[in-house]
Amino acid sequence: MKVLVATEKPFAKVAIDGIKNVIDQAGYELVLLEKYTEKAQLLEAVADADAIIIRSDIVDAEVLAAAKNLKIVVRAGAGYDNVDLQAATAAGVCVMNTPGQNANAVAELALGMMVYGVRNLYNGTSGTELMGKKLGIHAYGNVGRNVARIAKGFGMEIYAYDAYCPKEVIENDGVKAVDSVEELYSTCNVVSLHIPATAETKNSINYDLLNRMPKGAMLVNTARKEVINEAEVIKLMEDRTDFRYMTDIMPATHAEFAEKFAGRYFSTPKKMGAQTAEANINAGIAAANQIVGFLRDGINKFQVNK
Ligand code: 3PG
Repeated sequence: MKVLVATEKPFAKVAIDGIKNVIDQAGYELVLLEKYTEKAQLLEAVADADAIIIRSDIVDAEVLAAAKNLKIVVRAGAGYDNVDLQAATAAGVCVMNTPGQNANAVAELALGMMVYGVRNLYNGTSGTELMGKKLGIHAYGNVGRNVARIAKGFGMEIYAYDAYCPKEVIENDGVKAVDSVEELYSTCNVVSLHIPATAETKNSINYDLLNRMPKGAMLVNTARKEVINEAEVIKLMEDRTDFRYMTDIMPATHAEFAEKFAGRYFSTPKKMGAQTAEANINAGIAAANQIVGFLRDGINKFQVNK
C-alpha cells in the first residue's frame, strides 16, 4: 500500500519521522510530495496512491479522478472544506479529519494575536489589556474550548455561541452561553472566530454583525477567510476607526486592508495556527494511524463523508 503525504505547507521533520514510523510498521510505503507549487505535481503523485495525508491542500474531483487506487484521504487537521466530499463519496473514497489534534496550537495563536492587537502591533505606544475584557468565542468546538481555557488565565470574561453545542457543555466550562450570534457580538470587546467554512457560514461575518460590537472592538480570525464578507469588513473599518482585525488567513483583498488600516489590521503571510511541531506531530501521526486502522481493520471513526 502506498501512502502519500501531499503538503504544500510541509509538516515539521519530526512529524514526518513519526508518520514514517507508523507507515513502516504497517508494512506500507511512504511517499512525500512537499512544498509543491503546481497542481500537476499533485495529479502525478496521487496516480498510484492508496491513501493520502493532506493539510489545506485541495482535493477536488480532478485529483480524485487521477487517483485510481485511492481508498482514503485524511485531512491532518480540523477543517475539510478543501476536500470535495461529494466527489469522494461518488468515487468510493473515505474522507477523515483528525479533530482536536491541532486545536491547542490554533488557540495559542488566537490569544497571541489578541495580545498583539491590543498592544498596537508592538509599535511602542500605550495599548490596553485583555484582563477584565469580554471575549466572545464564536463556535465552541475543539479550538474554541482551548481558547476559553487559555483566556481564563488572562482573566477575561468569556462568552460563547455555538448553534450545535448544548448550552450545558459551554456553561460547565465556566463560559457564559449566549442565545444568539447577535448577542455574542453586541456583548463582547473581542470576538474569536472558530466556525468552519460551510454554505451557511460563508460571508456571514458582515457589517451588521460587527457593527454591534462595543467601541474599541477587535475581531480575531484563525478560522477561514471565506466566512468573512471582506467588502463589508472594509466598509465597517472605514466607518469605525476604533475597529481592529487580526487574521491568520490572508484576505483576498489583503493589499487594500493593509493600505487602509495600517496599525489596526494584521495578517500572517501564511496560515500558521497549526504550524507547530506539536500540532504537526499530533495531527500527522493521528492521520497515519487512522489510515492504517482503516486499510487494515476497516475502522472508519472520524469519517466525514458517511
Ligand atoms: C485546520 O483546519 O486544521 C487548520 O486550519 C490548520 O490548517 P493547516 O493544516 O493548513 O495549517
